[in-house]
Amino acid sequence: MTAFKINGRPVDVDVEPDTPLLWVVREQLGLAGTKFGCGVAQCGACTLHIDGEPVRSCIVPLSDAEGRSVTTIEGLPQDGSHPVQRAWAELDVPQCGYCQSGQIMSAIALLAQNPKPSDADIDEAMSGNLCRCGTYPRIRAAIHRASEMN
Ligand code: FES
Ligand code: FES
Repeated sequence: MTAFKINGRPVDVDVEPDTPLLWVVREQLGLAGTKFGCGVAQCGACTLHIDGEPVRSCIVPLSDAEGRSVTTIEGLPQDGSHPVQRAWAELDVPQCGYCQSGQIMSAIALLAQNPKPSDADIDEAMSGNLCRCGTYPRIRAAIHRASEMN
């Protein structure tokens, strides 16, 4: 059994400890907002937080979550009141949407560490999150917008 918190709720999971955390979140815990893209830490679609740090959950083993707090896109306010959620909605960022939960989780981690990021800071922090629809200009604008709301 591996015990950890998911979005503030304690859980015990009975699967092999080397199972990728992404599989556990999606299959065992039924939280499908975190996406599978590449499976090899190259696209960022699977980004979630462990103790506030953004990680690529496709390559993180379940054992890394033991005793820690995992936050997925479903852990954000249901009313959409987080500044990043509000900025994303205001600027209509998503296109197909597939990459967006990873983008949002990376953006939140960036702003927690750097509340007023420059364009260069944003580009660096977000460089591991790919978007096939090319929403990068709106992502950057929305991060600036969210930083103004903080
Ligand atoms: S699915 Fe994890 S980085 Fe692409
Ligand atoms: S919105 Fe389609 S991949 Fe990013």
